[in-house]
Amino acid sequence: MVVIKNYDCVDAGGEYCPCYLAEVGECILCSHLQNKKICECIWTGQCIYQNYIWNQNKRKEQRQNFQAKVLDKKNIMEDIFLLKIKLDKKIVKDLKHPGSYLMLKDNNSPEYFSAPMSIMDTNEKESCVYTLIEILGSKTKTLSNIEDNIVVRGPYFNGLIGLKKLKKAKGKKILVVSRGAGIAPAINTIKYLIKNDNKVTFIVDYGRRKEEFMEEYIENLDCTIKKMNLKDENHIDILKGMAKEGYDILYSSGSDNFSRRMYPIAKENKMAFVILNNSKICCGEGICGSCTSKDVHGNLVKLCKTQVKPQEIIERGIPNE
Ligand code: FES
Repeated sequence: MVVIKNYDCVDAGGEYCPCYLAEVGECILCSHLQNKKICECIWTGQCIYQNYIWNQNKRKEQRQNFQAKVLDKKNIMEDIFLLKIKLDKKIVKDLKHPGSYLMLKDNNSPEYFSAPMSIMDTNEKESCVYTLIEILGSKTKTLSNIEDNIVVRGPYFNGLIGLKKLKKAKGKKILVVSRGAGIAPAINTIKYLIKNDNKVTFIVDYGRRKEEFMEEYIENLDCTIKKMNLKDENHIDILKGMAKEGYDILYSSGSDNFSRRMYPIAKENKMAFVILNNSKICCGEGICGSCTSKDVHGNLVKLCKTQVKPQEIIERGIPNE
């Protein structure tokens, strides 16, 4: 069996660790909590096994559904709308981090209608968050009918792969390349990066949507913004030229196929690489298996919780479109 693993769990050592996976012997990091006799973990934080024992061999309290008020619902395009949701201050603060998302559903639908939605922006003063929703299937169609209230579960954090690079970045030069719906989560991340004294260049490609549907949300960002069409090879050449200007990180905020096109640019210029997590997240808790993918070594990885090297997703050749 293949054993090469170099993973991180996004929840390890946090408020929700140990989780359900510890109780069923499936902890992502702790070998004791995978029913093994010896410690094989490479986690350098507080021992997950010890925390589990201290918690009377039980998980910590996990994320629960709660009711939240919808402060505003704005139709951006025929199939895209923006929700402004009132939340308590602690959750809003948590959701400022890159890769944050919430599980959302309407009041009347059963639990399996909960859909993961990336945070586009937060407002601590008003204690609210913004999320952009594209109507694609049964879950988002149902969400499009919500009015004053919504059922929320969260916060969740694994919306990006390569998170550590962005969280640790201070005083770095960062190239953010976004396409289509990937523009929305990029906004929250860019605000976080700017706050940490990073210099950001934001490439915006509206993709198949001709209208510049996010204009009012990006124009006030304190970074250099360039509009491009990255299906056009001339624009790719311009991007390749820009990438030679000493950037430390390339964050690709688009589909896996899009990130696959960005990866050689990052590699050639020795930039750290960060991508959107496009896996099919359903429960968000490592239980249902819908986000399970194979890394380049053939190991099964639950991407709703696991941080892997972005290139393992890019190189394995199975896109999550
Ligand atoms: S979304 Fe259910 S296991 Fe990852």
